[in-house]
Amino acid sequence: MAKAFDIVIFGGVGDLALRKLVPAWYRGFKEGKLTDDSRVIVTCRNIEAVEGYFETAASALQQHLSEGEFEVEIWNAFRSFLFPVALDISDLNSWQQLQQLMNEDKERIRVFYLAIPPAIFGVCCGNLKKNKLISIKSRVVVEKPIGYDAVSAASINKEISGYFKEENIYRIDHYLGKETVQNLMSLRFTNLIFEQLWNSSSIDNVQISISETVGLEGRAGFYNEAGALRDMIQNHLLQLLCLVAMESPNKISAKSIQTEKIKVLESLRPITLSDVKEHTVRGQYVAGSYNGELVSGYLEELNSANSTTETFVAIRAYIDNWRWSKVPFYLRTGKRMKSRCAEIIIQFKDVSHRVYADSVGQLEPNRLIIRLQPDELIQLTMMSKNLETTDMKLQPATLNLNFSDTYKGFKSDAYKRLMLDAVKGDSSLFIHRDEVKYAWAWIDPIIDTWKVSKSAPQLYRAGTWGPEESDELLQKDGRQWFNAGESVCK
Ligand code: BG6
Repeated sequence: MAKAFDIVIFGGVGDLALRKLVPAWYRGFKEGKLTDDSRVIVTCRNIEAVEGYFETAASALQQHLSEGEFEVEIWNAFRSFLFPVALDISDLNSWQQLQQLMNEDKERIRVFYLAIPPAIFGVCCGNLKKNKLISIKSRVVVEKPIGYDAVSAASINKEISGYFKEENIYRIDHYLGKETVQNLMSLRFTNLIFEQLWNSSSIDNVQISISETVGLEGRAGFYNEAGALRDMIQNHLLQLLCLVAMESPNKISAKSIQTEKIKVLESLRPITLSDVKEHTVRGQYVAGSYNGELVSGYLEELNSANSTTETFVAIRAYIDNWRWSKVPFYLRTGKRMKSRCAEIIIQFKDVSHRVYADSVGQLEPNRLIIRLQPDELIQLTMMSKNLETTDMKLQPATLNLNFSDTYKGFKSDAYKRLMLDAVKGDSSLFIHRDEVKYAWAWIDPIIDTWKVSKSAPQLYRAGTWGPEESDELLQKDGRQWFNAGESVCK
C-alpha cells in the first residue's frame, strides 16, 4: 500500500479548489487512493471560513460532481481526510497551525498546491521555507497560466526556483491529465500504421478545437484580464499541438517528453505584425441562444460597456521543421459556442490518383478524429463500398473506438490523475519551465500586435461556431472546420 502523504491546497475555498480539486480527491478517496493517514489540508482565509468549510465543500461536491456521484456515506467518510486550517498566506504569524499539523510527521511526502494568484506564489513559498515546511520530499504544484507574458512568467519561475528544484516543480495543465490525451501518445508511438504516415507527405492539415458553451462562470475579473489566447491557447491548445507534432521520446519519462515538446514550441513559426491579421481571428460573443434559451453577450455578463477581451480565437500555425513543413495547424477555442467539444482532427491528403469514375461519388480523404470531451473516442474515417447497391458507389465509413462504451462507469478526472502523479513523483505529464518560456515567446507578439492595432474583436452570436472570419480563415486555404456533431461528408 502507498505511503501516507499530505497535500496542502493553498486557496482551499477558491473556485479551483471547490470546483476541481476537492471533487478530484473525493473521487480519489472513493477509489481507495487516499491511504489511511493521508491528509488533504485546505487553507482558508479566516476562522469563519474554517467553521463553514465542511458545509461549503459538501455543497461544492453536490454541484460539481456528476449526477449521482455524491453519496452521503462516502462524504461522511471522506470528510475525515479534509483538514481546514485558517491561514493568511502573507501573514507569517498565521502559519502556526499548519506548521504544527505538518510537523506531526516530517517524513511523509508533501505536495503544496498553489491554487492562488501568481502574485503571491513567492510569498507563499517564502513562508513555507521560513516555517521549515519544505523537506526533500516536497513538491509544489502551480496552475496555468504561468504569468501574463514571457517576462512575468520568467519572474514567477525564477521566484519558485529559489525554493524548489526544477524536478520538484509541477506546472499543471489539466488537459495533459485527460485520458484520451495520453491515448494520443500511445496511439502514435505504439502503432506503426499511424507513425509511418505522421508527416507532411501524408497529412494535409491538423485541427485542434476546444469549444465551450459556458460564459464567464463568475470569473470575470480573471478572464477579462486574460482572454482566450492566454487562458486556453498559450497552454491547453499548444500542449495538444506538441503531443500531435513531437518526435517520439526515447522513453516515457518527464525529461524525454518535455525535451520533445520544447523542440516543437521552438519550431513554431512566429506570427508577428502583418502576419497577425492574416493568421489570427479574435472574437467576442454577443447575446444569442443556447439550447433554445437566450444567453447574454460578453459585455452584459461583464457588466461593462466596453472591453476588447477576446472570448474566441482561431489561428493558423505552422511548425517549421522537416516533419511538418507547410502543414497548417488550425487552432480554435471559444466560450459560448454551439457545443462543448475538444477534438483533434488529423486530415490526411487525397489519394494521389483517382481510379474510379466520378459516378461512384465524392472521395473523402481519411480523417483521424481524437475526441477528448464530452465523450472520449478515436475514429478513423475511410472510403468503402456501399453494400446496398450492386452499382459501384463509395461512401465514407468510420472505424470507431468509443471508450465511453468500452469503459462504462469509468469517471475520468484529469486533476485526480495529475495530483496522484505529483504524489508519486511522476512529472511526465507536467510542464517544464522552458515550455512555458517558448509558449509565451510565440503568444506575446500576437497580443502585442492586437493591442497596437486597436482593432475590436469580431462579434459572434452566443451559440454559434464563432465569427464568420474564423470560417474564412480556412476557406482562404480551400478548407473548412470540422464542427463536432455536424456531418462534414458532402
Ligand atoms: C481552464 C480555463 O484552464 O480550462 C477555463 O481557465 C476553461 O476558462 C477550462 O473553461 C476548460 O477545461 P475543461 O476541462 O472543462 O475543458
